[in-house]
This record gives sequence, C-alpha cells and structure tokens, in this order.
Amino acid sequence: MQQIALAVIGGTGVYNLAKLDDVQTHEVSTRFGQPSGPVRVGTLLGHRVAFLARHGEGHSLPPHKINYRANLAALQQIGAQRVLALNTVGGIGDDFGPRVLACPDQVIDYTWGRISTICEEEGTDVVHVDFGHPYTPMLRSKILAAAKVTGVKVHDGGCYGATQGPRLETIAEIARMRRDGCDLVGMTGMPEAALARELGLDYACLAIVANWAAGCGDGEEITMAEVLANVQAASNGLPELVGELARG
Ligand code: HPA
Repeated sequence: MQQIALAVIGGTGVYNLAKLDDVQTHEVSTRFGQPSGPVRVGTLLGHRVAFLARHGEGHSLPPHKINYRANLAALQQIGAQRVLALNTVGGIGDDFGPRVLACPDQVIDYTWGRISTICEEEGTDVVHVDFGHPYTPMLRSKILAAAKVTGVKVHDGGCYGATQGPRLETIAEIARMRRDGCDLVGMTGMPEAALARELGLDYACLAIVANWAAGCGDGEEITMAEVLANVQAASNGLPELVGELARG
C-alpha cells in the first residue's frame, strides 16, 4: 500500500483536481461494493494525493444513490488516512453567499433511507462513535492554516444541514433550517462524515457555496448554470490549498 498524504472527494462541479500530475487510475473494490468511480492518485505540488468524484466523473449518481461507504473504504484501502470532503452547497447564513469557501464545524442530518453505518450487516459488531465534533478538529485546523498560508479565504465554522435531494429545498424548509441553526445546505455531507468517523478516518469538509439557498439572497431561481459557474470561480485557489494541506 502506498502512502497517500491526503484524499480529496470532489462534489458537484469538481470532477477532477487541477494540477494533479502523474496520475494513476485505480479501480478499487471494497467490502461495501464499488465506489462512485476510479480513484485517481497523483502528485499535487510534490505530494501524493488521491481524488474521487463523489457523484461519478460524469455526475451520474444522485446523492441518495452514492455508495458513501464504498467511497471512503476505497480511499482507506488505497492508503489514505485523511479525507478532505469538498461539498457544493447553498448558503443560508448572511456570511455564506455564493463563492464563499467555508469549513463547517457542525452538522444537522435531515437525510433519510441512506445506509448510514458500517454496522448495517447482520453479525457486525455495533459501534457507537462519538460524533459531538463531526469533523476532525485537527484536520479543520490544518485546513484553516493552509488557507492562511496560501491566501485563500475560508470561513471558519458553520453548521452544515444535509438534505435528501436531489431536488432543492422549499423556502419553508430553508426557513426551518435557519431556525435550527444551519448556515449551509447540501445533499451529500451525511452520512459521509459519520461513516468516516466509524472507519477511523480523519475527515473534514470544505464547503463551496454555489448559490443562495431557497428564499435567501435575491430570491432568484437557482439554476445549474449558476451553481457550476460559482463553483468554478470559487475553486481557483483549491490546488494550492490542497497542496499545502497535503504537505502538513
Ligand atoms: N441546496 C442543497 N444542495 C445544494 C444547494 C442548495 O441550495 N446548492 C448546491 N447544493
């Protein structure tokens, strides 16, 4: 097994990692089944980095059909211990407008019907992991430090609300999420974070705000074109940030 400094899971609009050189492709099978696609392992600014597109490289998997367990297990099998989850999200809180990058520190899970534990199969030992701090604090600190070094602006903290999708939310649903304390809304943050904890991986989220959530901002209709354009614009500094994170 090779040493991987960092694994990155890309979300909507992030289907590869710019500046990842000498890429090798791994088709990995896991005890949980097949991941969303191949794991690409290469060198990013001198460090071994693995990349996996969460929805598949052609964005063919909706959030509730993603095999989150296989994705994380594949990265672990290939030698990764640290996972940076890139999640494309809508912004709810005033500080979380389009093109903001944020490193949330809390989660509320509104998803349902997803396999959300590695203890699913009969005969598996049941584990009750501590999840008070859903993202690995040390990895969050390193993301924020890497952002500082590379001059990439990243908002420290926030609560990620994970919804079922694939449809976007109603205005009333977002109003409820705001009352609950959510700053960001996305469809893929859970069960991924909990599974990573169960698997013993270090895991943190870098959320890319693609749009104002329903009823926030100017109230305009949310389009995929807007989402993708904002993700692309907000991702300019990512290779440097990821490279710096992989270094430390
Ligand atoms: N809601 C849920 N998921 C999202 C959104 C949103 O507004 N934007 C990007 N992913």
